[in-house]
Amino acid sequence: MSEHNDHDEPVVEGRVEEGSTAVVSKPIPDPGLEAEAPRYSDVNEAAAKRYTRMVAGLFLLAPLFAIAYVVVYFAIPVDYQIVVSDTQKYPAQNVFLGLTLGLALLAIGVGAVQWGREIMGDHEEAEERHAAASSEDERAEFMAKVDKGIEQANVGRRKVILGSMGVGVGALGLPLIISLGDLGPWPTGKWLDEHYMKTIWAPGVRLVNDVTFTPIRAADLTIGQLVNAEPETLQELDGHDTLVEKSKSAIIIVRMNPNQITIPATRQDWHVNGILCYSKICTHVGCPISLWEQQTHHLLCPCHQSTFDLGNSGVVVFGPASRALPQLPITVDAEGYLVARSGFVDDLGNPLAPGPSYFERDSSTDLTRPRSVEELSEQVGEN
Ligand code: FES
Repeated sequence: MSEHNDHDEPVVEGRVEEGSTAVVSKPIPDPGLEAEAPRYSDVNEAAAKRYTRMVAGLFLLAPLFAIAYVVVYFAIPVDYQIVVSDTQKYPAQNVFLGLTLGLALLAIGVGAVQWGREIMGDHEEAEERHAAASSEDERAEFMAKVDKGIEQANVGRRKVILGSMGVGVGALGLPLIISLGDLGPWPTGKWLDEHYMKTIWAPGVRLVNDVTFTPIRAADLTIGQLVNAEPETLQELDGHDTLVEKSKSAIIIVRMNPNQITIPATRQDWHVNGILCYSKICTHVGCPISLWEQQTHHLLCPCHQSTFDLGNSGVVVFGPASRALPQLPITVDAEGYLVARSGFVDDLGNPLAPGPSYFERDSSTDLTRPRSVEELSEQVGEN
């Protein structure tokens, strides 16, 4: 509630006017603490024991779920799916791995909450604010409070809780160790060639729209247009294979004026009247890209702004990507539809993996910077 002074200004409660100086009284009076009410488990030893058993039981559920995680990991094949409807399918292994690990964490979490609520001491401590650096006495006082807290938590008396919690939390190491298996195998040699370097692009495979799966006719593309596409043969795959090949084979098709772009000698027959085709997967860390600037022929990755010049072999002109977008050589079939000449290849005709850079990848023939036609021709000659 406010009153008014001689100058008809409101006087705020708790402030005293002395001349022109306002004196502020203590803004928050001591709110006091409610008297502490003992809990049922504080006054009834049988109840305390019941709670102890419940908390220990919750902690010991965690190892059971961790073992279930391991069983799921080995028992459910990676390509099994839970089919809810024609359009809703979920990988069964992922669902059950998530479920078992989630339940293990939940058991530990609920156990810890119940421990704190029902068994640990619930004495309230008021701590006065003080200067940042504590004195020796204050530190000693703090340590005494910590010791008292540990004593009130009944840690020493209820060893079963500490033991069960140790087993429960320790068991969570199992899912962690088992999941490390998914980091392998080390992608080198034959495995690398068979999985990363190869896509389902092959000579004669049609380029189809990635949503409607309709084949794309060269004559239907206008200058400046960009189309997201996939290989027609993707529709022959199913489940996990579809996802893997879709992510590796995704491409963008752009049509540019052939007189306004740089097409090196090594790539003269990789395009159809200025229609060029590149991997849609950013070579930085693998985001799908299709932000297209028609005027500059630049393609911008939305993740970290790497920018590729599609009018000059897809080289990087800005950003963290360290190599050009792989180009897919294309031609047309007898009916005028765009088809691949091969898979992704480098200027020397070697298979080229689309996707992000990684340590084990052979990058010796990557195009990492704009090169002149002469330079490329020389390199081809040398090899
Ligand atoms: S993923 Fe494209 S710039 Fe990082």
